[in-house]
Amino acid sequence: MKRRIFIQKTAFASILPLIPKNTFSNPASSFKPISIASGNGLQATAKAMEIILKGGDALDAVVAGVNIVENDPNDNSVGYGGLPNYEGVVELDSSVMHGATHRAGAVAALQNIKNPASVAKMVLERTDHVLIVGEGALKFARMHGFKEENLLTEESRKEWVKWREMMSKEDDYLPPHSIDELDLGANTKEALKTYGTINCLGLDLAGNISGVTTTSGLSYKIPGRVGDSPIIGAGLYVDNEVGAAGSTGRGEANLLDCSSFMIVEFMRQGLSPTDACLEACKRIATHTKEKRLLTKDGKPNFNVSFYAINKKGGYGSAAIYEGIKYAVNDGKESRLETAVGYFKR
Ligand code: GLY
Repeated sequence: MKRRIFIQKTAFASILPLIPKNTFSNPASSFKPISIASGNGLQATAKAMEIILKGGDALDAVVAGVNIVENDPNDNSVGYGGLPNYEGVVELDSSVMHGATHRAGAVAALQNIKNPASVAKMVLERTDHVLIVGEGALKFARMHGFKEENLLTEESRKEWVKWREMMSKEDDYLPPHSIDELDLGANTKEALKTYGTINCLGLDLAGNISGVTTTSGLSYKIPGRVGDSPIIGAGLYVDNEVGAAGSTGRGEANLLDCSSFMIVEFMRQGLSPTDACLEACKRIATHTKEKRLLTKDGKPNFNVSFYAINKKGGYGSAAIYEGIKYAVNDGKESRLETAVGYFKR
């Protein structure tokens, strides 16, 4: 009997919006709305701000923003048209986090569904879990009516074929090795590989913060490889009292430092978004010990970029190497700004 009442209540609850909408599209809001994203996120931030300025919830806003990039066949780092794994199959990772309710959802190694960010949001809204991977994530997406399709565009397929044809024994399957080995592994072919991703963060008029990170991950990865994007604390973290952070770039380095969580904690201690991002870059530089991942002068031979916003509408971005652009929208046009580099090129 008790169980029936519970199920009835739950069924009733499920027709209600699970994420509280902002009832206060109050023009006199004391919060300064902001949305920022990685450099491929000009349209994403514009869409997110459009929704925020109408009084929408920051999570709805940032997910609608990145859906545009996921659907874009010409962005080969995210969603449809993303570069595939080693076997030519596009596998997507994404996470979302909702500051107001401190809930998160994520999917990893998801095939055939072009909007992993929306599936991650569905994990947040309609499960008791945070992360669902692989076949389970696909079944969950199917259950909720997401359309299955081949995500490999002709352009991405050709890029993959080019990579296979140039492939040598230097791939991601490493033999036993010491940390002193040079010229080992796919990292020596860095120019052929990408870690492209989009992260988008937003602060809405109600003062609530949310974020999303979505990616096709490392190009030509070992099937099943999961990067930082769907890992809460690494590729994305939100604390509604403090701010939010997210990342793009070499996910393995970020997974070893849980940088997004670290950035939010640095902001809690009073650092600006940019300085907090710089601290995360410094931590990765300090923790990178394997010579195959270092330049001759001992710096990381890869890049990772971080994006952060705080509760006051402050924002910033830093990358291990300078030259990275990121998108900002503080209520008007989206624009590109330059991330601070921890190292010069
Ligand atoms: N940062 C994206 C990835 O490494 O998969």
